[in-house]
Amino acid sequence: MKLAIFASGNGSNFQAIVEASRAGLIAAEITLLFCDKKDAYVIQRARELLIPVISFSPNDFESKALYEAEILHLLEEEQIDLVVLAGYMRIIGPTLLETFSNRLINIHPSLLPRFPGLHGIKDAFCSNVSETGVTIHYVDDGVDTGPILAQEKILIEPTDTLDSLERKIHNVEHRLYPSVLAQLIQTKQGEKSE
Ligand code: GRF
Repeated sequence: MKLAIFASGNGSNFQAIVEASRAGLIAAEITLLFCDKKDAYVIQRARELLIPVISFSPNDFESKALYEAEILHLLEEEQIDLVVLAGYMRIIGPTLLETFSNRLINIHPSLLPRFPGLHGIKDAFCSNVSETGVTIHYVDDGVDTGPILAQEKILIEPTDTLDSLERKIHNVEHRLYPSVLAQLIQTKQGEKSE
């Protein structure tokens, strides 16, 4: 099974997935990183981990459809089975969704459907809820709305700061994402060989 990871920023989840794959915890090869920001730190991580990087931005294209058509072409060329979004800060459009429906996964730092969007951690922290968490879900055409694969709750303690909550969330993400992907890949491989 071949995975492509899409990321736009820091890339700590990207690294956790690559390490899990190399440790034999995920029965898949991380074939490539796609990054839409040429100076993102995730690109440096990929180079250090010797994962091939493809990077271009929608600004290089006349339309989002053409941008996604180029990505789709690359994914098909590489025979990618599953696309894993890990901090990819764009909405997936119809061009990619049509071909990769049920093969596009995302991670979001809140207990969806609460606190979707760009600031899931801060929005939960500022709204005085006593718990938040991490959600892994299929991607559909909404913002953080696809069918949920897994969730893990995290308590917000009175002593938590935004920084400490972010740390807790990322720690859970780095464990949960690889383990959910491992299960999903096992299920998909079972379906293939039936
Ligand atoms: C994570 O919190 C993830 O849930 C969200 O974006 C963040 C990416 O972090 N979608 P990193 O780039 O993997 O460090």
